[in-house]
Amino acid sequence: MDIIEAIKERRSSRAFLDKPVERGTLENLLALATQAPSAINLQPWELTVVSGEEKKRLSRLLVKRMKEMNISCGPGANKPLPEYFIERQRGLLNVMLPGLPEQTNFQDFINEGSCNFYGAPTAIIITIDDVFSSARLTDIGVLVGYLVLAALGLGLATCPIGLITAFDDDIKEELNIPEEKHVVIGIAVGYADPQSPINLPRSERASLSEVVKWRD
Ligand SMILES: Cc1cc2nc3c(=O)[nH]c(=O)nc-3n(C[C@H](O)[C@H](O)[C@H](O)COP(=O)(O)O)c2cc1C
Repeated sequence: MDIIEAIKERRSSRAFLDKPVERGTLENLLALATQAPSAINLQPWELTVVSGEEKKRLSRLLVKRMKEMNISCGPGANKPLPEYFIERQRGLLNVMLPGLPEQTNFQDFINEGSCNFYGAPTAIIITIDDVFSSARLTDIGVLVGYLVLAALGLGLATCPIGLITAFDDDIKEELNIPEEKHVVIGIAVGYADPQSPINLPRSERASLSEVVKWRD
């Protein structure tokens, strides 16, 4: 698939087919994603690929912890958000609402869905070693960009899941990840359910004039 095409086509998937992703396909995906550039070629990422019964156990644990701790998806803001950011959030809600099953609360759908990786057969947990400062989170962001586009090229669908960082200790204990690693993000990986209305909406983007300043 052409890279421009992939960028235009990619979207997050929130409903997956009950169909496992083969090990070879996952290996291809990881080999492509880890071609991402990083500062001083440090490649500060580590990826834990969780499938099968372990993925089901992890999802059950995260849903339970989310309810116990009353955790909800949020903007990760240090201060109240200016109105134009709130407007973008509202825009996402508006495009997603028509695809939600009837009587479903949006926030519950996102919170529980995120902890369950939206039913995807595989979850990739990306961690970083605590030797690194927050500067190296940029590298992880680049990796995620590569991963979601490479997945599309392999016929897979993805959804980045930031919510799970709230459960850093639980995830590390469940997956035997050493204490000095931090969970940066998870990625749901699988085959998109083409029948699900939740996969139809396309989120909008701010116009270039809103986010770009030109200086000549
Ligand atoms: C860092 C990051 C964290 C995210 N966390 C979540 C999440 O916890 N739950 C979720 O449903 N979507 C999550 N998303 C997906 C975004 O909601 C989605 O990318 C955004 O609405 C744009 O839609 P698109 O990916 O379909 O273009 C996350 C995306 C990114 C990049």
